[in-house]
Amino acid sequence: MKHLHKKFNGRNVLEDVSLAIYPGETLGLCGKSGSGKTTVGRCIVGLERPDSGEILYGGVNFLSENKRNSSVASTRVQMIFQHPETSLDPRMKGMDSIIEPLQIHSKCNGEQMHDKARELADMVGLSMEHLHRYPSQLSGGEIQRIVLARILSIGPQLIVADEPTSMLDVSVQAQVLRLMQRIQEEKGISYLLISHDIELLHQVCDRIAYLEEGSILRVEEM
Ligand SMILES: Nc1ncnc2c1ncn2[C@@H]1O[C@H](COP(=O)(O)OP(=O)(O)O)[C@@H](O)[C@H]1O
Ligand SMILES: [Mg+2]
Repeated sequence: MKHLHKKFNGRNVLEDVSLAIYPGETLGLCGKSGSGKTTVGRCIVGLERPDSGEILYGGVNFLSENKRNSSVASTRVQMIFQHPETSLDPRMKGMDSIIEPLQIHSKCNGEQMHDKARELADMVGLSMEHLHRYPSQLSGGEIQRIVLARILSIGPQLIVADEPTSMLDVSVQAQVLRLMQRIQEEKGISYLLISHDIELLHQVCDRIAYLEEGSILRVEEM
């Protein structure tokens, strides 16, 4: 990300934000509520468009007009949101939520897709029984696991995780973070882990960037 600027209703929300995220690392993004963390994350995955600046993915400007390039990049960069209860379609069972991206992005047939979904569920520590439930029948931690499986089915290289555990009980928080670390070791994925919890970031990050009122104050190496 280079020199990102973003205003909402005439008010500066991001001011000259530049950050690099390296392959396989976890970069923490820390800051108080309202400092602009979520906006940074949403810009990276393309849910928000900065007013100016560049977002380069493997040297290609994410924001360029070239739709083909940006759609390749968009499958490689995925986001996990803070509120598990709004992360999944309430009308879809877990299995269908995991399979949906495969239907869009892969050339698998039906049977291969179900095999792949089973494999992904196994990776995130869920049983087939969980996959046959609707979101309302799953706990917050179980939903975040399904969200992870759904995202992993697309084969991302960077996951933006926006306070992914802040709505979960402390014990479940640790489980989900450990799972994310295990997946990182296995797949070499990078994370941008957004949190207001400095202690949590210290536990899992390679570097931590501090955001204050839309500006990066400093980046700390662990
Ligand atoms: N879509 C939007 N429209 C107007 N203001 C917004 C919008 N999204 C975020 N903001 C404002 O931008 C600021 C930064 O928000 P956000 O990025 O969500 O911060 P954080 O995630 O650090 O709490 C806040 O003041 C918020 O109210
Ligand atoms: Mg936020």
